[in-house]
Amino acid sequence: MENVDWKTLPFGYIKADYNVRSFYREGKWSPLEVSDSEFINIHIAATGLHYGQEAFEGLKAYMGRDGKVRLFRWEENAKRLLISAEGVNMAPVPPELFREALFKVINLNRKFVPPYGSGATLYIRPLLYGSGAEVGVKPSLEYTFIVFVTPVGPYFREGIKPVNMLITRDVDRAAPKGTGIYKVGGNYAASLRAIIAAKCGGYATAIFLDAKEKKYIDECGPANFFGIKDNTYVTPKSESILNSITNMSLIEIAKDMGMKTERRQVPVDELPEFEETGACGTAAVITPIAKIFDPGTNKTYEYCRDGKPGPWTHKLYNRLTDLQYGDEPDKFGWITIVE
Ligand SMILES: Cc1ncc(COP(=O)(O)O)c(C=O)c1O
Repeated sequence: MENVDWKTLPFGYIKADYNVRSFYREGKWSPLEVSDSEFINIHIAATGLHYGQEAFEGLKAYMGRDGKVRLFRWEENAKRLLISAEGVNMAPVPPELFREALFKVINLNRKFVPPYGSGATLYIRPLLYGSGAEVGVKPSLEYTFIVFVTPVGPYFREGIKPVNMLITRDVDRAAPKGTGIYKVGGNYAASLRAIIAAKCGGYATAIFLDAKEKKYIDECGPANFFGIKDNTYVTPKSESILNSITNMSLIEIAKDMGMKTERRQVPVDELPEFEETGACGTAAVITPIAKIFDPGTNKTYEYCRDGKPGPWTHKLYNRLTDLQYGDEPDKFGWITIVE
């Protein structure tokens, strides 16, 4: 990997050497197969293409100062893929198969794990879809599970740079009792129009509200929302958002730092009360929010007036990334070394 400039790597796709695949047929998953192709051969009537029987995951491998490659809470990604599979009636991927696929694909592509200190990581994308042919609306009898990797740069080059976000009032990402809690492609398709509109308006992403009442904050594009006030980390409880592994970790870290934590409905009307707000997720890590504009009320909510993240946000970011890179002892038991 002599020719890669890790420090300027974008958050995009670069071909690695190998991916791994398993096929579910007649009620059984096949042993993992290694492929050096970036392409899949897919039946024209596969349910993954027509009826959205598809789910994915996203996690990262981090190179430590000690040269060891670390995974952060991969068991939670395995669990969430089980939940997503059940949500759209797909065959579950057993966590042992998930683990074997992760280790195999990372070991086969070790040279693509970016060096410590570059700010880049190896992004891992497990993918599950219905690959059997059906024309009527019904679940497939066959499934394909693939894990591929690609080295990525930090989402925001400057580290934790505050960004502006736009509240969306004319697009819903997911309905209560719908598929919002699953990591399935349909939710992302439904969110695209709003995210593109926000980007065209100069915002980093769109903030979705609860679809029923349009009163409470749901999510920030592909990341969860948090607000901080009076020493308290507050994050939305909603039946239409993805349960972010970063967010659940930040709740633990915040408690460990002596903060109070609340997971509850967060009304838009509460936005003026927060001292700091941010978005969190595997890709975004923690992205502080500088300004939120609500076109429904014409109100702007401002944080980070000096262009810098707030003190709590900064501390949470440092604690989280120190754990992920192994710069801090793994007191929560969240790290797995890939050997
Ligand atoms: C819609 C959505 N919300 C939140 C998150 C953050 O989840 P995590 O912290 O598990 O990456 C993601 C990214 O996976 C996402 O796509």
